[in-house]
Amino acid sequence: MKGIVLAGGLGTRLFPLTKVTNKHLLPVYDEPMIYYPIRTLVNAGIDEILIVTGGNHAGDFLKLIGNGKDFGLRHINYTYQEGEGGIAAALSLAEFFADNDKIVVVLGDNIIEKNIRRAVAAFRSQKEGARIMLKEVKDPQRFGVPVFNDKGKVVRVEEKPDNPASHYAVIGIYMYDHRVFDFIRTLGPSDRGELEITDVNNFYIREGKMECDILDGWWTDAGTFESLRCASNMVAETGANKL
Ligand code: DAU
Repeated sequence: MKGIVLAGGLGTRLFPLTKVTNKHLLPVYDEPMIYYPIRTLVNAGIDEILIVTGGNHAGDFLKLIGNGKDFGLRHINYTYQEGEGGIAAALSLAEFFADNDKIVVVLGDNIIEKNIRRAVAAFRSQKEGARIMLKEVKDPQRFGVPVFNDKGKVVRVEEKPDNPASHYAVIGIYMYDHRVFDFIRTLGPSDRGELEITDVNNFYIREGKMECDILDGWWTDAGTFESLRCASNMVAETGANKL
C-alpha cells in the first residue's frame, strides 16, 4: 500500500499568509503543517510516500523534508501540480506512483489527534473498492457530508451542502483501489471549477464498494484562519498523531 499527501493548490483562503510561502509549510503550533499528514501515513505503517505540491514555493518542500529522514524514511517522492484544479486533479498525478497498488490519500491540511491504523489494516484486507473516514462536526456545511439511509448506510456524499443531511464530515483521508484513476478521468469540473474528490467517492458508493470508519480522536483541517488557529491550539493542548 502506498501513501499520498496532497499539498497542491494556492491556499487563497489564507492570503496574505500564502503570498510568499505554501500553505502546507505554515506552522501548526511547533511544526510545519505538512509534517502532520506525513506522520499520519508513517504511523499507519506506510513508508512509500508521494507528496504532490504546487505553486511558486514547491522547492521549499525539498529543503524542509529532503528524503524524509525526520520521519524515519530513507526516501520520499515528489510531484508538481500546475494551478489548482482540485483534489481529484492533484490525485490524478499520482497514477504512475501508485502503479496499480492500493493507496491511502491524506490532504496536506488535515491533522488528527490519534492514528488511522485500524482503518488501514481493514483496507489492507478489503479485496477492492474504497474507504472513507467520518467525524461528527459542528459545521458540516464546510465539508463533504455523508447522507445516511435508515439502516445507517452512506448512500451519497454532498459537497458543502447548504442544508447538511447529517452532522458528519468526510475527512480528508481516503483509501482507494487502482480504479480511482479511471474514475477521475471521467470527471468534469464542479461549480467551483475543480475536480471534486466527493464525485470520486460517489462512484464507489454507487457501486456498493465504499466502506466507512468513524475516526477516533479529534480531527481538523487548517485551511482557514479559524481552523488554522484551532489546529495550533489543539496540538498545543493535547498533541497530535499519537500512536
Ligand atoms: O478537509 C476535508 C475536506 O476537504 C472534505 O470534507 C471535502 O469534501 C473536500 O472537498 C475538501 O474540502 P476543502 O474545500 O476544504 O479542500 P481545499 O480546497 O481546502 O483543499 C484541501 C487540500 O487538498 C489542500 O490543503 C491541498 C489539497 N489540494 C487542493 C486543491 C484545490 C491540492 O493538492 N490541489 C488542489 O488543486
